[in-house]
Amino acid sequence: MNGRDANLKKYERRWFVIAMAALGVLLGLSIWWMMSAPGRFPTTPLTDPVRKILRSPMFRHPGVTKLGPHHYRVAVVAHQFQFEPSKIVVPVNARIDFYVTSADVIHGFEIPGTDVNIEVIPGYVAHVFATYHKPHDYLVVCDQYCGIGHQNMIGAFDVVAKMPLPSVQVVPSGPATPAMLAQAGQALYASRCAACHQANGQGLPGAFPPLAKSVPEYESDPRHRTLLADVLLYGLKGKVKAEGKSYNGVMPAWGDQLSNTQIAAILDYIGTAWGNKEAEPAGYKPYDAAAVASARKQTMTSAAVGQLRAKLFAGHTQKH
Ligand code: CUA
Repeated sequence: MNGRDANLKKYERRWFVIAMAALGVLLGLSIWWMMSAPGRFPTTPLTDPVRKILRSPMFRHPGVTKLGPHHYRVAVVAHQFQFEPSKIVVPVNARIDFYVTSADVIHGFEIPGTDVNIEVIPGYVAHVFATYHKPHDYLVVCDQYCGIGHQNMIGAFDVVAKMPLPSVQVVPSGPATPAMLAQAGQALYASRCAACHQANGQGLPGAFPPLAKSVPEYESDPRHRTLLADVLLYGLKGKVKAEGKSYNGVMPAWGDQLSNTQIAAILDYIGTAWGNKEAEPAGYKPYDAAAVASARKQTMTSAAVGQLRAKLFAGHTQKH
């Protein structure tokens, strides 16, 4: 080997190191870019445009609205991992205007077998219209990967010959009787929570923690009780143990979309359904809107709720 070759080797090695360093910096930068700004991962708190849209009259109470004799508006909010409403019923031979928005990440709104296939972007409202001439039960699916529960994002779209009579108002506004609240709690659970925690409260092992049996454990301590309201208001991010299994997912925050009464109704439903009522500590009292209102006063992040939960449950049996 002569001197010239040795020099060349050195020269090559130096450039190799420089190239690798540049690659490393680039990789680091792109990871930093993904992690740094809110909105790029589903852990996002609501941004202002999203919040503004969700608070607009159309999306405050999404669903089907009759605009004229043969004209209906369908307003849908897509969120992890559910469409709201999860069932849409429209009549034949009418113009159907769909308005779809997202409360968190990019979703799809596709009705297979029809021309409706929309990309739903948070902060924007997608609009398409269509007319159906034959009664048919379609599905609504999300065709954009939006997180761990993506495959559960399925809704129903029924075109019927004749519209059913308006259904019972399940979202009480103002003073509500206990029976109304119970009905609202069950309906809200079905539309907001069941996609992940399942209708039977068993969750999905490894993905979504169960609520059956685990809710009464929260209730055994007054601090845990407030924590349960925090989880619904602000979401929860971080490692969680429930019924002996570990979970590391993200629970979305509902504080911006649900009223204190609605959240109290859900809390009561999960506190009493699936045999939880029998497991509740003696003297269990239903939640009320005032309790949720006071939890709402000190704003938390989903990560802070996760940390608080870990702290409160730290000394607490092996189950959690
Ligand atoms: Cu929403 Cu996939």
